[in-house]
Amino acid sequence: MEPLVKAALEARGNAHAPYSNYAVGAAVETAEGDIVTGCNVESSSYGLTVCAERVALSSAVAQGHKNFKRIAISSKGDAGPCGACRQFIWDLCRNIPILMVNDDGTTEELMSGDLLPNAFDDRFLKKGNE
Ligand code: THU
Repeated sequence: MEPLVKAALEARGNAHAPYSNYAVGAAVETAEGDIVTGCNVESSSYGLTVCAERVALSSAVAQGHKNFKRIAISSKGDAGPCGACRQFIWDLCRNIPILMVNDDGTTEELMSGDLLPNAFDDRFLKKGNE
Protein backbone atom coordinates (compact mmCIF):
# COMPACT_ATOMS: atom_id res chain seq x y z
CA MET A 1 0.00 0.00 0.00
CA GLU A 2 1.44 3.40 -0.84
CA PRO A 3 2.41 5.65 2.10
CA LEU A 4 -0.21 8.35 1.41
CA VAL A 5 -3.04 5.80 1.49
CA LYS A 6 -1.64 4.10 4.59
CA ALA A 7 -1.35 7.47 6.34
CA ALA A 8 -5.01 8.31 5.63
CA LEU A 9 -6.13 4.93 6.97
CA GLU A 10 -4.02 5.32 10.11
CA ALA A 11 -5.18 8.89 10.73
CA ARG A 12 -8.76 7.65 10.74
CA GLY A 13 -7.89 5.73 13.89
CA ASN A 14 -7.36 9.06 15.67
CA ALA A 15 -10.81 10.44 14.81
CA HIS A 16 -12.73 12.08 17.64
CA ALA A 17 -16.27 11.29 16.54
CA PRO A 18 -18.35 10.43 19.63
CA TYR A 19 -21.54 11.99 18.22
CA SER A 20 -21.70 10.63 14.68
CA ASN A 21 -19.47 7.58 15.19
CA TYR A 22 -18.28 8.27 11.65
CA ALA A 23 -14.50 8.33 11.63
CA VAL A 24 -12.61 10.02 8.80
CA GLY A 25 -8.88 10.21 8.15
CA ALA A 26 -7.07 12.38 5.64
CA ALA A 27 -3.50 12.64 4.41
CA VAL A 28 -2.13 15.38 2.21
CA GLU A 29 1.04 15.02 0.16
CA THR A 30 3.04 18.22 -0.05
CA ALA A 31 5.12 19.43 -2.99
CA GLU A 32 8.22 18.49 -0.97
CA GLY A 33 6.93 14.92 -0.63
CA ASP A 34 5.97 15.20 3.03
CA ILE A 35 2.73 13.68 4.28
CA VAL A 36 0.56 15.55 6.79
CA THR A 37 -2.47 13.87 8.33
CA GLY A 38 -5.74 14.87 9.95
CA CYS A 39 -8.90 13.30 11.35
CA ASN A 40 -12.36 14.63 12.06
CA VAL A 41 -12.72 16.31 15.44
CA GLU A 42 -16.29 16.65 16.65
CA SER A 43 -17.66 19.12 19.19
CA SER A 44 -20.60 18.83 21.59
CA SER A 45 -21.71 22.00 19.83
CA TYR A 46 -22.11 20.00 16.64
CA GLY A 47 -21.58 22.84 14.18
CA LEU A 48 -18.04 23.37 15.44
CA THR A 49 -16.97 19.95 14.16
CA VAL A 50 -13.99 20.03 11.83
CA CYS A 51 -13.60 17.55 8.99
CA ALA A 52 -10.49 15.43 8.53
CA GLU A 53 -9.53 17.09 5.25
CA ARG A 54 -9.58 20.58 6.75
CA VAL A 55 -7.61 19.43 9.79
CA ALA A 56 -4.95 17.87 7.54
CA LEU A 57 -4.68 20.89 5.26
CA SER A 58 -4.69 23.38 8.14
CA SER A 59 -1.94 21.40 9.90
CA ALA A 60 0.10 21.34 6.72
CA VAL A 61 -0.26 25.10 6.30
CA ALA A 62 0.66 25.62 9.97
CA GLN A 63 3.80 23.56 9.37
CA GLY A 64 4.80 25.91 6.56
CA HIS A 65 3.65 23.95 3.51
CA LYS A 66 2.15 25.90 0.65
CA ASN A 67 1.87 23.51 -2.29
CA PHE A 68 0.07 20.21 -2.37
CA LYS A 69 0.11 17.32 -4.80
CA ARG A 70 -2.62 14.91 -3.66
CA ILE A 71 -5.00 14.24 -0.80
CA ALA A 72 -6.25 10.85 0.38
CA ILE A 73 -9.42 10.44 2.44
CA SER A 74 -10.34 7.32 4.41
CA SER A 75 -13.89 6.71 5.60
CA LYS A 76 -16.54 4.02 5.72
CA GLY A 77 -17.85 3.52 2.22
CA ASP A 78 -14.95 5.58 0.78
CA ALA A 79 -17.06 8.74 0.73
CA GLY A 80 -16.04 11.85 -1.17
CA PRO A 81 -15.27 15.11 0.65
CA CYS A 82 -18.17 17.27 1.86
CA GLY A 83 -18.97 20.51 0.07
CA ALA A 84 -17.07 22.70 2.54
CA CYS A 85 -13.97 20.53 2.17
CA ARG A 86 -14.22 20.64 -1.63
CA GLN A 87 -14.01 24.42 -1.38
CA PHE A 88 -11.12 24.26 1.11
CA ILE A 89 -9.21 21.79 -1.09
CA TRP A 90 -9.79 23.93 -4.18
CA ASP A 91 -8.63 27.10 -2.43
CA LEU A 92 -5.39 25.58 -1.15
CA CYS A 93 -4.60 22.90 -3.75
CA ARG A 94 -6.47 23.81 -6.94
CA ASN A 95 -6.86 20.85 -9.32
CA ILE A 96 -5.30 17.83 -7.61
CA PRO A 97 -6.19 14.14 -7.43
CA ILE A 98 -8.38 13.15 -4.49
CA LEU A 99 -8.00 9.51 -3.46
CA MET A 100 -10.98 8.02 -1.68
CA VAL A 101 -9.70 5.10 0.34
CA ASN A 102 -11.61 1.92 1.15
CA ASP A 103 -11.02 -0.12 4.32
CA ASP A 104 -8.84 -2.55 2.36
CA GLY A 105 -6.67 0.26 0.99
CA THR A 106 -8.11 0.25 -2.54
CA THR A 107 -8.74 3.73 -3.90
CA GLU A 108 -10.99 5.61 -6.25
CA GLU A 109 -9.45 8.76 -7.70
CA LEU A 110 -11.22 11.94 -8.78
CA MET A 111 -9.90 15.42 -9.55
CA SER A 112 -10.83 18.21 -7.14
CA GLY A 113 -11.86 20.38 -10.09
CA ASP A 114 -14.36 17.76 -11.21
CA LEU A 115 -15.84 17.66 -7.69
CA LEU A 116 -16.33 21.45 -7.61
CA PRO A 117 -17.12 22.72 -11.10
CA ASN A 118 -17.23 26.47 -11.68
CA ALA A 119 -15.62 27.02 -8.27
CA PHE A 120 -15.51 30.31 -6.43
CA ASP A 121 -11.98 31.34 -5.45
CA ASP A 122 -9.63 34.26 -4.86
CA ARG A 123 -9.67 35.26 -8.53
CA PHE A 124 -13.07 36.83 -7.89
CA LEU A 125 -11.91 38.61 -4.75
CA LYS A 126 -9.04 40.15 -6.69
CA LYS A 127 -11.42 41.29 -9.45
CA GLY A 128 -13.73 42.86 -6.88
CA ASN A 129 -10.86 44.97 -5.47
CA GLU A 130 -9.52 46.30 -8.78
N1 THU B 1 -16.61 14.42 7.82
C1 THU B 1 -15.30 14.58 7.47
O1 THU B 1 -14.39 14.50 8.29
N2 THU B 1 -15.03 14.85 6.16
C2 THU B 1 -15.97 14.96 5.19
O2 THU B 1 -15.65 15.34 4.06
C3 THU B 1 -17.35 14.59 5.48
C4 THU B 1 -17.72 14.53 6.91
C5 THU B 1 -16.91 14.15 9.23
C6 THU B 1 -17.60 15.27 9.95
C7 THU B 1 -18.32 14.55 11.05
O3 THU B 1 -17.43 14.40 12.15
C8 THU B 1 -18.60 13.17 10.47
O4 THU B 1 -17.77 13.03 9.34
C9 THU B 1 -20.05 12.95 10.08
O5 THU B 1 -20.50 14.00 9.29
